[in-house]
Amino acid sequence: MLASASALRRGLIAGLFAACVCGAPLALSMVSAPSKSAAEDSIEAAMGVLKKNARALKPLLQEKDKAAEALPLVVEMETALMSAKGVTPDLVNEIQDAKKKAEETLAYRRMMIEMLGETLKLEDALLEGKMEKAREHYEKLGKMQKPGHDRFKGD
Ligand code: HEM
Repeated sequence: MLASASALRRGLIAGLFAACVCGAPLALSMVSAPSKSAAEDSIEAAMGVLKKNARALKPLLQEKDKAAEALPLVVEMETALMSAKGVTPDLVNEIQDAKKKAEETLAYRRMMIEMLGETLKLEDALLEGKMEKAREHYEKLGKMQKPGHDRFKGD
C-alpha cells in the first residue's frame, strides 16, 4: 500500500515535469507569434551582421597592419550570408505568378552568391595583406545594398 502510494507520487511528479517541459515551448510560441516568417528572420539576422561588421571593418581597412583584426569580421559575414542565401524573402514568397516567383527566387539567390563571392575575395586579399584590394571588394559589397534592397526588401 505504502509502495503504491509513493509510486503514484513519482508518476505524478514525472507527469508534471513532462507537462512543463513539453508545454513550455508550445505556450511560448503562442505568446510570441512572429509577425514575419522564420525565413525573413534569418535574413534579418544576417543583414544585421553585415551592417555591424561592415561598419567595424571600414576603419580597419584603412590601416596596413589591421588585416588580422579584420579577418574574423569578414568570416562572420560569410557565415551570415551562407545561412541567408538559401531562404526566400517574404516579398518573393508573396508573388502569385509562379514564373515570376521562380525568377525572383533565383535572382535573390544569385545576388547573395555574388555578395558571398565578394566577401571571400575580401578575405583572400586580407590573407595576402593587400589592403587596397580588400577595400575594392568592400566597396563592391556596399554597392550591392541598394539594388538588393530595392528588389527584395519590403517596407
Ligand atoms: C553590404 C550590403 C548590405 C547590407 C549592409 C545590408 C543591410 C541590411 C539591413 C541593416 C537590413 C535591415 C534589417 C532589419 O530589419 O533589422 C536589411 C534588410 C534586408 N536586406 Fe540587406 N543589406 C545588404 C545587401 C543586401 C542584398 C544584396 C540583398 C538581396 C540580395 C539584401 C536583402 C535584404 C532583405 C530581403 C532584407 C529584409 C529582411 C527583413 O525582413 O528585415 N540585402 N539589410
